[in-house]
Amino acid sequence: MQSETTSRHEKLHVGIIMDGNGRWATRRGLSRVRGHEAGVETIRRIVEAAPKQGIGALTLYAFSTDNWRRPKAEVAALMTLLRFYLANEVQSLVKNGVRLTVIGRRDRLPEGIATAITRAEEATADGGTLHLRIAVDYSARDAILNAAAKAAALTSLTREAFSQLVTGEAGLRDVDLIIRTSGEKRLSDFLLWEGAYAELHFTERMWPEFDAGDLAEALAAFHGRERRFGGLRAIVPEEVPSLSRV
Ligand code: IPE
Ligand code: IPE
Ligand code: MG
Repeated sequence: MQSETTSRHEKLHVGIIMDGNGRWATRRGLSRVRGHEAGVETIRRIVEAAPKQGIGALTLYAFSTDNWRRPKAEVAALMTLLRFYLANEVQSLVKNGVRLTVIGRRDRLPEGIATAITRAEEATADGGTLHLRIAVDYSARDAILNAAAKAAALTSLTREAFSQLVTGEAGLRDVDLIIRTSGEKRLSDFLLWEGAYAELHFTERMWPEFDAGDLAEALAAFHGRERRFGGLRAIVPEEVPSLSRV
């Protein structure tokens, strides 16, 4: 039976729903695209801060499958930012020991981006300091659906094997903590399988203003919580009612 706070020595898997770029910009009289540009700066800051704060895997929600519903110009600007990020960031990711993988569909991305993703993944493959996963054209329900389609061909299936089909990774740690900025309190189709027991942290901060201090605050709150995984609070064994008597 598991009942525990997560040890400060364990490398955590943190997911972030990077929300609020548009509102941050609009409130300043700027275009929404300026908000997305500022959001990329935040990604740089947080990727740098994450390993220093005990994070081993960081999954960032950059573009959801449902985000295709936005105006064409905004989608195009987001794709351009992704292209720039892949072109300009790889060197510093390699230097900092960051392994980048991109999750989600690649076949609907504008020309050249899928190739740039593969290149970036290959160039950073040896990074051992942080596993950065960026979710693009991502839907957790689609990831589960696709895994189920693959699993249909198998004769036996374990949770571990199914996890690998969902996440595309062997041995990826379940998500410990999901942070969402901008005050919204929903998951918007993010990490529904891997986040089954994730702690949730919601902050009013807009993504462009989120910083290393905010990340530290989220982690401090996380470490103060008791994770029970369906078990009981840590109590002395004599107090645990015998299952045979209930
Ligand atoms: C998050 O910011 C970035 C993406 C979803 C691509 P939003 O663009 O959703 O910002 P708000 O929610 O409109 O403020
Ligand atoms: C979720 O944010 C997706 C990303 C942060 C990439 P949205 O802003 O798209 O989510 P909803 O529409 O408010 O649920
Ligand atoms: Mg939003």
